[in-house]
Amino acid sequence: MAEDVVEQSEKAFDVQKIRSEFLILSLKVNGKPLVYFDNAATTQKPREVISAIKDFYESENGNIHRGVHYLSEKATELYENAREEIKNFINAKSSKEIIFTRGTTESINLAATALCRGGMLKADDEVIISNMEHHSNIVPWQIICNEKGVRLKVIPVTDEGDLDLEAFKNLFTEKTKLVSVVHVSNTLGTINPVEEIVRIAHERGVPVLLDGAQAAAHVQIDVRKIGCDYYVFSGHKMFGPTGIGVFYGKEELLEKLPPYQGGGDMIKNVTFEKTTYDDLPAKFEAGTPNISGGVGLGAAVRFLNSLDRTAVAKYEDELLRYATEKLKVIEGLRIIGESKNKSSVISFVVDGVHPYDIGTLLDAKGIAIRTGHHCTQPTMERFGVSSTARASFALYNTFEEVDYFVDSLRKILKMLR
Ligand SMILES: Cc1ncc(COP(=O)(O)O)c(C=O)c1O
Repeated sequence: MAEDVVEQSEKAFDVQKIRSEFLILSLKVNGKPLVYFDNAATTQKPREVISAIKDFYESENGNIHRGVHYLSEKATELYENAREEIKNFINAKSSKEIIFTRGTTESINLAATALCRGGMLKADDEVIISNMEHHSNIVPWQIICNEKGVRLKVIPVTDEGDLDLEAFKNLFTEKTKLVSVVHVSNTLGTINPVEEIVRIAHERGVPVLLDGAQAAAHVQIDVRKIGCDYYVFSGHKMFGPTGIGVFYGKEELLEKLPPYQGGGDMIKNVTFEKTTYDDLPAKFEAGTPNISGGVGLGAAVRFLNSLDRTAVAKYEDELLRYATEKLKVIEGLRIIGESKNKSSVISFVVDGVHPYDIGTLLDAKGIAIRTGHHCTQPTMERFGVSSTARASFALYNTFEEVDYFVDSLRKILKMLR
């Protein structure tokens, strides 16, 4: 055990104190203490988030924006405060730029639908994505390709798991209307050079959407520094609840986009002849939203803001490096995704052993990892595998857990081979 590493980084922020905020981490699974290494799928929730949701339903619940009574006003205030907190969290210019959605997937569907509807994407126009996208940044574009004749182009990925930026530059034509790429890959762990990507695209007059689903919990997001035009993420991957996420867009672009869905709460005036839409952000939020989800996401932002994010990032990076070194020396084990700039995700395969068997046998030891294609089948194909085992760490994981995971994996592999 690298005692010096543990001491050094656990001092920077108190991991045991953080763990005490997550009651689920003291769970026993199959008679063993839970080791939760499936954070890229969803993170656990701190007390603060759970309390915010509980308090909301116990003493603050009402429908927002419409009422004159106490509870409606209270719920509206909490929901709109959360929007303001999220605006600050990603350094947006205005809370009008923060649209609540169900999550990353819905945010990208919103973008694809509205851009098409608004005529910003038409037949023969091209959208550039990459070979490390989650299906949610592929399929919504494919749907509009099929419906409208839009075309997709794909940035290749190198053997290390980086975007090939020279190839990226060569993909642009006068038909390119959008670049939509992932900030942090959920399979390879690569942290993409988003500022450079935006610069390259903007030099060619093309707007950029970034999928920040895996970034929000690990990287400090500054949409104005990055310069992106749209940024999307999910609450549940950053210690918030499921069913809530964010679609950020620059105000001037959102003003030009038509609505995604129609219904209540997004209108100024409705007659059978014509409807006028409400101002931002309401224009994009039809119907009663996930109010408690918004409030819970606000609490998740407060939780993250209460931490030294630089110390957290350093700690997670040390966990990643520690686990990588220990896994790399296991015979027949190959790590998929070895970018120099990586988030705390390790995908791996082992010669002659199915990832599913690894996942199942680790579960018997209380260890939660993910196995499969991780909703990135084209990435799997690129690396010549059909599935991987994936361990993904969060700020509450420890070096001791990594030791237990690697020891357990070694025992399992001895049994299976
Ligand atoms: C990189 C990436 N993009 C998009 C998504 C989709 O997120 P959600 O299912 O919360 O909409 C995920 C989820 O795993 C992801 O990892």
